[in-house]
Amino acid sequence: MLKLAVLVSGGGTNLQAIIDKIADKTITNAKIEVVISNKKDAYALERAKKHGIADCYLSPKDFATRPEFDQALLECLQKYQIDLVVLAGYLVIVPKNVVEAYENRIINIHPSLIPSFCGDGFYGLKVHEAVLARGNKVTGATVHFVDDGTDTGPIITQKAVYVQEGDTPEILQKRVMEEAEWNILPQAIDWIANDQIEVIDHIVHKK
Ligand code: GRF
Repeated sequence: MLKLAVLVSGGGTNLQAIIDKIADKTITNAKIEVVISNKKDAYALERAKKHGIADCYLSPKDFATRPEFDQALLECLQKYQIDLVVLAGYLVIVPKNVVEAYENRIINIHPSLIPSFCGDGFYGLKVHEAVLARGNKVTGATVHFVDDGTDTGPIITQKAVYVQEGDTPEILQKRVMEEAEWNILPQAIDWIANDQIEVIDHIVHKK
């Protein structure tokens, strides 16, 4: 049974998709051990409580130095014996010590087709604003392993979503979540939990 930590900063709709797809067995061999948020009032923490999942608030703001936060985060993951760290709308840069300890065992959902509209500064609505400003007709979402760059790790899966005439960033964000994110993040977790993918020279292959 793959032990998951889901790291969040906001509403947690991706967390909810994971909870639901474990419940209906779309994801097998995986269990959420803990939900960690850097925001005390993140609704995602409520979702965890409602489903009897341990929740933990851990913010760099509450530590005198960044290395102390980094250590606390690592210790929290170790305490729950986490196998896979899932970043589901987590707005903190994952510390180097955690990336090193969990090589190819941290995944992130990004709301565009990487390598478009990703990297520093591309998060949340900003991604969708940039897609609309460029006039793209197709966007989507990407699940990737996390390495020491921003959105540079091996790509696990992607799904395209059409941009429609009259879209606002909010409308597009919602469509990308509904049509792509809530499906491909659980899918990636199920593949990992069932040992169906491997990374060879930075490329993810199906086994
Ligand atoms: C999603 O769009 C995700 O791709 C991005 O942050 C958002 C999180 O939404 N990284 P939620 O908290 O899962 O509802």
